[in-house]
Amino acid sequence: MATIHVGFLHSLVRKEEKLLLTEFRKRANVNLIMLDDRSLQFDLHTKPEADVIIERSINHSRALHALRLYQSLGIPCVNSYQVSQTCGDKILTSVALREHSVPQPDLRIAFTEESALAAIEDLGYPVVLKPAVGSWGRLLSKINDRDAAETVLEHKTVLGSYHHSIFFIQKYVAKQGRDIRAFVVGDECIAAIYRSSDHWITNTARGAQASNCPVTPELADICLRAARAVGGGVVAVDLFESDGGLLVNEVNYTMEFRNSIDTTGVNIPGSVIDYILSQASA
Ligand SMILES: Nc1ncnc2c1ncn2[C@@H]1O[C@H](COP(=O)(O)OP(=O)(O)O)[C@@H](O)[C@H]1O
Ligand SMILES: [Mg+2]
Repeated sequence: MATIHVGFLHSLVRKEEKLLLTEFRKRANVNLIMLDDRSLQFDLHTKPEADVIIERSINHSRALHALRLYQSLGIPCVNSYQVSQTCGDKILTSVALREHSVPQPDLRIAFTEESALAAIEDLGYPVVLKPAVGSWGRLLSKINDRDAAETVLEHKTVLGSYHHSIFFIQKYVAKQGRDIRAFVVGDECIAAIYRSSDHWITNTARGAQASNCPVTPELADICLRAARAVGGGVVAVDLFESDGGLLVNEVNYTMEFRNSIDTTGVNIPGSVIDYILSQASA
């Protein structure tokens, strides 16, 4: 069996990275090359001896640029630069979902305080205002009335950083205490969990409880369509159950799965690694 050289792009090694590394080390034909984004240098020419790169950086901007640089040297990356760019930005994700007719919550995008307020009033309360780039449920606002809308928009305008100058506004989906996170690897939806919480934000990083969610044909179908819409690869799809059926909220490209292996009984890192190895250049 020929050796496959796998570049492992990372920052801090978290639980997910440890699980992936353990799984890689079980494979006799894998040679791991650790690529720590805190010490890398790029000169646009020097190519690491990797047949494939798995991206596990924590920082979106570092991940994006490193992927672009590696792909320009001809190394296949999982996920690709294009997938990471789309998934890292909720606006680009929404556009891709729309282009592929994947159902999602109603939304508005606006660039000023005034137009954002008009958009919110137009959508109808409650709405959720989110930074286009962000994760772990940070800086999300559920806005229930005009007073709150004016306050949050003014605070964002006066105090917010550059990232808060674009307003991504979604209709709030009454989701009965849970949402769904489904894991897609290549052409398969391998597992899914419910994330339940008393809080309207159901990220497990924010304390939501994970439980197994059966992968029905309906769930697999919408998840595969969402994954294809953003360019495929290894992604985690967040969905809401609404009266009108499943809606895709977002697609995550450096997915976290630590709470989902025991919960689902699926060897998620094992599947991810099979897929990574299948993408290696010959
Ligand atoms: N439009 C919405 N309606 C209802 N709940 C929402 C909505 N948007 C976000 N949430 C809740 O907030 C969580 C985090 O939102 P999400 O868009 O996934 O941002 P992040 O990238 O921070 O995870 C979701 O998992 C969900 O529980
Ligand atoms: Mg999310």
